[in-house]
Amino acid sequence: AKKKTRLDFVKMKREGEKATWITAYDFPTASFAQQAGMDMILVGDSMGMVLLGYDGTVPVTMEECLIHCRAVRRGAPDLWCMGDMPFGSYQVSDEDAVINAIRFLKEADMDCVKLEGGRRVCSRIKAITDAGILVCGHIGLTPQSSGQLGGFKAQGRDPESARELIKDAIAVQDAGAYALLLEAVPPELTEFIAKKLEIPVYSIGAGAPCDGQLIICGDMLGLFQAFTPKFVKKYANVAEVEIAAFKEYVQDVKKGRFPTDDHVYHIHEGMEEEFQS
Ligand code: KIV
Ligand code: NA
Repeated sequence: AKKKTRLDFVKMKREGEKATWITAYDFPTASFAQQAGMDMILVGDSMGMVLLGYDGTVPVTMEECLIHCRAVRRGAPDLWCMGDMPFGSYQVSDEDAVINAIRFLKEADMDCVKLEGGRRVCSRIKAITDAGILVCGHIGLTPQSSGQLGGFKAQGRDPESARELIKDAIAVQDAGAYALLLEAVPPELTEFIAKKLEIPVYSIGAGAPCDGQLIICGDMLGLFQAFTPKFVKKYANVAEVEIAAFKEYVQDVKKGRFPTDDHVYHIHEGMEEEFQS
């Protein structure tokens, strides 16, 4: 299939076709997503938790993100791919934000970038957009500032918090973002924002009434064992499959059931005497 453009996502919003979106951090997962007909991939800094074993996303570096973005691009050459700007890559200044956003495009062939925050990052969104780069906003539960939120907690459930998020959503659009991701906010608020904004509005844990869904591959595949958010639907249990396979291998080797004659390369005929001691 031909790779989508920003305009395809606008058209999908207008026509009510939901966009399907998954995180991927490696070549095989990206390739499987493309083979499955996914609309887009986020190379999320959730790689820190799912893949690298950190407690949160804060430690993830630009270098780690770029390595995984490149692997994803090789696995999914025809998919819309978004690079997730890690903590520290856009907090200090607009200039830093632009320099790092450029790296996602030049060094990892990403189609766009995402950064967390509402009004407080609007000058960053504008600066990156002015550099000619597509930016996706991300508000609600923002894991990079989970310390300030008091943990991985749903947002926008009380009137004051909901009003703040609406202001943030409008500000992100006005700053030039081409799309907005809402994380862990009530579906009532999601619906309001998705109708209010012209840009596509996507949900992770923010309910159905919007323009598409994102899910974390490690959560939906059952790869991430530390905890499972309420908003996840588990479609597979890869951890169970892997552990079962590893156990069987361990037993096979211990008991001499692997390798067998099927798994080896024998010497050429007539060479037997070379191995007589
Ligand atoms: O890094 C990520 O996967 C994300 C989602 C949690 C939205 O940013
Ligand atoms: Na992220």
